[in-house]
Amino acid sequence: MKLAIFGDMHGNDGAAIAAIQWAVDRDVKVAIWAGDCGLWTSLQHVISTDRINAFSLNNGFTNFWVGGNHEHWPTWNQVTAPVSKGGAVKDQWGFSIYRSNIRLAPRVHTWKMGRAWFAGLAGAASIDRRYRTTGVDWFPEETITEAEIASIEKMNTDKFHVNYFITHDAAVNSPFGFSLYEDIPSFDNREKISRAVRHLHPDYHFHGHYHKFLYWDNGGTTTIGLNMEADKNSVVIIDTEDDTVFEFRP
Ligand SMILES: [Fe+2]
Repeated sequence: MKLAIFGDMHGNDGAAIAAIQWAVDRDVKVAIWAGDCGLWTSLQHVISTDRINAFSLNNGFTNFWVGGNHEHWPTWNQVTAPVSKGGAVKDQWGFSIYRSNIRLAPRVHTWKMGRAWFAGLAGAASIDRRYRTTGVDWFPEETITEAEIASIEKMNTDKFHVNYFITHDAAVNSPFGFSLYEDIPSFDNREKISRAVRHLHPDYHFHGHYHKFLYWDNGGTTTIGLNMEADKNSVVIIDTEDDTVFEFRP
């Protein structure tokens, strides 16, 4: 099964639709988004989400969103709540159906697609949070909690091996190649990603957040950081059948 992984789209419907078209042209029908998808509640964002959904619907394409930091977390958490608590109906992979062709992952999620196991872990720290308004465009729920990382560390990796790990944030030891902001929540969050990688030891780890292309080996896990929106290397196509086909969006 071929599928695409998208870097941060930030609600940029033009970039998302171009990425979907690029994937459709390569016979890909599924994309997993690695956070900062652009789930916001303004009318303009609702319209842009509807545009992405309509284009996907017309092309038989389905988008699976894993949460980033820049999302409207109260909405995301409500949509992914159990149906009995007012959440949306879930699809066969346990994603909540936000639009017909846009599905939201719970903050910690595992699922099987084709013959591969996937795990998703949402969240990152916003380094621009001091310029944002709490409860409007910044939410304390944006970072990974200790309970969430503990739930990953409790997963029985003897029972299932995660082939593909999709997160928004990167491991703490990533070779960024630039100076990171000295920001404790960011460091803490990257530490949690590293804990998850150490426990799951996935074959591949894909992430966004830094808007910078990275391709490196993290102790046996091939790690790919994706660029954003319509930039070069913002999308990669993988083939879960042979684990070898990688095509990056030029
Ligand atoms: Fe981000």
